[in-house]
Amino acid sequence: MTQTVPISEEQVRQLVDSFYGKIRADADLEPIFERVVAGDWETHLAKMYDFWSSVMLTTGRYKGNPVAVHQRIEGLEIGFFDRWLDLFGESCDELLDEETAGLFWLKAVRIAESLKLAVFYRPDRRWPESAA
Ligand code: HEM
Repeated sequence: MTQTVPISEEQVRQLVDSFYGKIRADADLEPIFERVVAGDWETHLAKMYDFWSSVMLTTGRYKGNPVAVHQRIEGLEIGFFDRWLDLFGESCDELLDEETAGLFWLKAVRIAESLKLAVFYRPDRRWPESAA
Protein backbone atom coordinates (compact mmCIF):
# COMPACT_ATOMS: atom_id res chain seq x y z
CA MET A 1 0.00 0.00 0.00
CA THR A 2 1.28 3.47 -0.81
CA GLN A 3 1.15 5.88 2.09
CA THR A 4 -0.44 9.11 0.84
CA VAL A 5 0.25 11.24 3.92
CA PRO A 6 3.88 10.93 5.07
CA ILE A 7 4.41 9.85 8.67
CA SER A 8 6.45 12.28 10.75
CA GLU A 9 8.77 11.90 13.75
CA GLU A 10 6.40 14.22 15.58
CA GLN A 11 3.53 11.77 15.08
CA VAL A 12 5.72 8.93 16.35
CA ARG A 13 6.54 10.87 19.53
CA GLN A 14 2.94 11.92 20.13
CA LEU A 15 1.72 8.37 19.65
CA VAL A 16 4.29 6.88 22.02
CA ASP A 17 3.57 9.57 24.64
CA SER A 18 -0.19 9.04 24.41
CA PHE A 19 0.16 5.26 24.55
CA TYR A 20 2.41 5.37 27.61
CA GLY A 21 -0.07 7.69 29.33
CA LYS A 22 -2.60 4.87 28.95
CA ILE A 23 -0.13 2.16 30.01
CA ARG A 24 0.64 4.06 33.20
CA ALA A 25 -3.06 4.20 34.04
CA ASP A 26 -3.63 0.47 33.42
CA ALA A 27 -4.03 -1.85 36.40
CA ASP A 28 -2.29 -4.85 34.74
CA LEU A 29 0.43 -3.19 32.69
CA GLU A 30 1.47 -0.33 34.96
CA PRO A 31 3.00 -2.53 37.70
CA ILE A 32 5.21 -4.39 35.20
CA PHE A 33 6.50 -1.20 33.61
CA GLU A 34 7.02 0.52 36.98
CA ARG A 35 9.08 -2.42 38.22
CA VAL A 36 11.19 -2.88 35.10
CA VAL A 37 11.58 0.72 33.99
CA ALA A 38 12.17 1.65 37.66
CA GLY A 39 11.44 5.33 37.31
CA ASP A 40 13.65 5.91 34.27
CA TRP A 41 10.82 6.65 31.85
CA GLU A 42 12.97 9.06 29.87
CA THR A 43 15.36 6.32 28.75
CA HIS A 44 12.53 3.92 27.98
CA LEU A 45 10.52 6.45 26.00
CA ALA A 46 13.59 7.52 24.00
CA LYS A 47 14.05 3.86 23.08
CA MET A 48 10.42 3.57 22.05
CA TYR A 49 10.62 6.68 19.85
CA ASP A 50 13.61 5.07 18.14
CA PHE A 51 11.82 1.75 17.82
CA TRP A 52 8.68 3.16 16.19
CA SER A 53 10.74 5.50 14.05
CA SER A 54 12.70 2.47 12.80
CA VAL A 55 9.56 0.41 12.21
CA MET A 56 7.49 3.09 10.48
CA LEU A 57 10.10 5.36 8.92
CA THR A 58 12.89 2.77 8.46
CA THR A 59 15.38 5.13 10.08
CA GLY A 60 17.31 2.25 11.67
CA ARG A 61 17.67 4.20 14.93
CA TYR A 62 16.58 1.34 17.15
CA LYS A 63 19.31 -1.18 17.87
CA GLY A 64 17.93 -3.69 20.29
CA ASN A 65 16.52 -7.12 20.79
CA PRO A 66 12.87 -6.94 21.88
CA VAL A 67 12.53 -10.74 22.00
CA ALA A 68 15.34 -11.15 24.51
CA VAL A 69 14.06 -8.19 26.53
CA HIS A 70 10.50 -9.55 26.75
CA GLN A 71 11.67 -13.06 27.56
CA ARG A 72 13.26 -11.65 30.71
CA ILE A 73 10.23 -9.66 31.93
CA GLU A 74 8.80 -11.33 35.01
CA GLY A 75 5.04 -11.41 35.40
CA LEU A 76 4.37 -11.02 31.68
CA GLU A 77 1.13 -12.87 30.84
CA ILE A 78 -0.05 -13.73 27.34
CA GLY A 79 -3.43 -12.09 28.02
CA PHE A 80 -1.71 -8.76 28.62
CA PHE A 81 -0.88 -8.50 24.91
CA ASP A 82 -4.54 -7.92 24.00
CA ARG A 83 -4.73 -5.13 26.55
CA TRP A 84 -1.47 -3.65 25.21
CA LEU A 85 -2.90 -3.73 21.67
CA ASP A 86 -6.24 -2.21 22.78
CA LEU A 87 -4.46 0.75 24.32
CA PHE A 88 -2.12 1.14 21.36
CA GLY A 89 -5.10 1.06 18.99
CA GLU A 90 -6.92 3.69 21.04
CA SER A 91 -3.95 6.05 20.76
CA CYS A 92 -3.67 5.39 17.01
CA ASP A 93 -7.37 6.18 16.50
CA GLU A 94 -7.25 9.29 18.67
CA LEU A 95 -4.18 10.83 17.04
CA LEU A 96 -3.86 9.63 13.47
CA ASP A 97 -5.90 9.63 10.31
CA GLU A 98 -7.48 6.30 9.49
CA GLU A 99 -4.88 5.20 6.95
CA THR A 100 -1.88 6.02 9.15
CA ALA A 101 -3.56 4.48 12.21
CA GLY A 102 -4.07 1.30 10.20
CA LEU A 103 -0.39 1.14 9.22
CA PHE A 104 0.82 1.49 12.84
CA TRP A 105 -1.82 -0.98 14.01
CA LEU A 106 -0.82 -3.64 11.49
CA LYS A 107 2.83 -3.47 12.55
CA ALA A 108 1.91 -3.60 16.24
CA VAL A 109 -0.29 -6.68 15.74
CA ARG A 110 2.42 -8.50 13.80
CA ILE A 111 5.19 -7.68 16.26
CA ALA A 112 2.94 -8.57 19.22
CA GLU A 113 2.23 -11.94 17.61
CA SER A 114 5.92 -12.68 17.09
CA LEU A 115 6.76 -11.60 20.66
CA LYS A 116 3.99 -13.81 22.03
CA LEU A 117 5.35 -16.79 20.10
CA ALA A 118 8.90 -16.07 21.20
CA VAL A 119 7.95 -15.76 24.86
CA PHE A 120 5.21 -18.37 25.26
CA TYR A 121 5.41 -20.95 22.47
CA ARG A 122 6.43 -24.47 23.53
CA PRO A 123 7.07 -26.93 20.68
CA ASP A 124 5.68 -29.82 22.72
CA ARG A 125 2.31 -28.17 23.37
CA ARG A 126 -0.65 -27.01 21.33
CA TRP A 127 -0.68 -23.32 20.41
CA PRO A 128 -2.31 -21.08 21.49
CA GLU A 129 -4.37 -22.95 24.12
CA SER A 130 -1.28 -24.07 26.03
CA ALA A 131 -0.15 -20.51 26.58
CA ALA A 132 -3.48 -19.09 27.77
C1 HEM B 1 1.90 -7.43 27.26
C2 HEM B 1 2.56 -6.68 26.42
C3 HEM B 1 3.86 -5.98 26.75
C4 HEM B 1 4.43 -5.68 27.95
C5 HEM B 1 3.87 -5.90 29.35
C6 HEM B 1 5.69 -5.04 27.65
C7 HEM B 1 6.56 -4.57 28.60
C8 HEM B 1 7.78 -4.00 28.33
C9 HEM B 1 8.71 -3.54 29.34
C10 HEM B 1 8.47 -3.59 30.85
C11 HEM B 1 9.80 -3.07 28.69
C12 HEM B 1 11.06 -2.46 29.33
C13 HEM B 1 12.13 -3.50 29.38
C14 HEM B 1 13.44 -2.97 29.96
O1 HEM B 1 13.65 -1.77 30.02
O2 HEM B 1 14.26 -3.81 30.36
C15 HEM B 1 9.55 -3.22 27.29
C16 HEM B 1 10.45 -2.85 26.30
C17 HEM B 1 10.13 -2.82 24.97
N1 HEM B 1 8.93 -3.21 24.40
FE1 HEM B 1 7.42 -4.12 25.34
N2 HEM B 1 5.87 -4.98 26.30
C18 HEM B 1 4.77 -5.54 25.71
C19 HEM B 1 4.51 -5.65 24.37
C20 HEM B 1 5.25 -5.04 23.39
C21 HEM B 1 4.91 -5.00 21.98
C22 HEM B 1 3.63 -5.62 21.36
C23 HEM B 1 5.90 -4.30 21.35
C24 HEM B 1 6.05 -3.93 19.91
C25 HEM B 1 5.04 -3.81 19.06
C26 HEM B 1 6.88 -3.95 22.36
C27 HEM B 1 8.06 -3.27 22.12
C28 HEM B 1 9.02 -3.02 23.06
C29 HEM B 1 10.35 -2.51 22.73
C30 HEM B 1 10.89 -2.17 21.35
C31 HEM B 1 11.04 -2.39 23.94
C32 HEM B 1 12.48 -1.91 24.13
C33 HEM B 1 13.37 -3.14 24.18
C34 HEM B 1 14.83 -2.74 24.39
O3 HEM B 1 15.21 -2.50 25.56
O4 HEM B 1 15.57 -2.66 23.41
N3 HEM B 1 6.45 -4.40 23.58
N4 HEM B 1 8.32 -3.80 27.09
